[in-house]
Amino acid sequence: MSRIAYVNGRYVPRAAACVHVEDRGYQFADGVYEVCEVRDGKLVDERRHMARLVRSLGELRIPLPMSLSALSVVLHEVVRRNRLGYGLVYLQVTRGVARRDHAFPPPGTRPALVVTANGLDAARADAMAAAGIAVITVPENRWERVDIKATALLPNVLAKQAARERGAREAWYVDRDGYVTEGASSNAWIVTGDGKLVTRPADFGILKGITRAVVLDAIRAQGLALEERPFTVAEALEAREAFLTSATQLVMPVVRIDGRPVGNGVPGPLATALRRGFHAFAAFS
Ligand code: PDD
Repeated sequence: MSRIAYVNGRYVPRAAACVHVEDRGYQFADGVYEVCEVRDGKLVDERRHMARLVRSLGELRIPLPMSLSALSVVLHEVVRRNRLGYGLVYLQVTRGVARRDHAFPPPGTRPALVVTANGLDAARADAMAAAGIAVITVPENRWERVDIKATALLPNVLAKQAARERGAREAWYVDRDGYVTEGASSNAWIVTGDGKLVTRPADFGILKGITRAVVLDAIRAQGLALEERPFTVAEALEAREAFLTSATQLVMPVVRIDGRPVGNGVPGPLATALRRGFHAFAAFS
């Protein structure tokens, strides 16, 4: 079965899907995106992802390409046409196609919309979670609006590649004051020696992760101790547990930071329980 993508009004074979060379996403990374987990053919936390999309677009003054209900139909249709059980839907909106000029294109330029879907290997992800992953730390070098889910991800690409080259799965950004901001494509968490879950507040310094929000709901519902505050790399190395959250990795235990073990060097019980219980707090559509 050939895979299907949605590109500006058409469902097309993925191999033939293409955008214009003057798409501003291609030329300026002038666009935003969302990644939504698909489970049993259903979108996970679609409403929250769409709310963040609307916010990202609003911050960049890019119009919504269609109504949210029409967009929902497209997302579900891409899932259906790809017969996707478990995986991800990727959605990207750019400021559209226009003759190259840094300033905004003429009013009325239609935003461009692309939606694709990819299957994931659940067994592989669970095996990775059972072993835990390694992260490296890198200096924070991104712009100040990382709260916008922009397609401009060059620093994240370089950080992730640096991680891979050092045998790690993720890179944690560290700001000038020594505090961890977030990962190249995930939010960062620790569990302190006295059992408190700690994650950085979702101000302008991090992307307000949807998985993070669901995990916060789970933590509050279970009455677990929580502190939304920044933490340092030293504190993470002394922590009982560390983990990261994202739509692609869900709750993923972190067992090494810059080659040094976190806690006992194995996935911790809280991260493991939050991963197992995650979908009880997620919404399916
Ligand atoms: N990344 N921080 C950054 C920089 C991210 O890119 C992501 C997600 C997150 C977690 O957000 P969420 O829980 O909503 O997935 C935090 C996606 C998965 C990606 O770029 O593929």
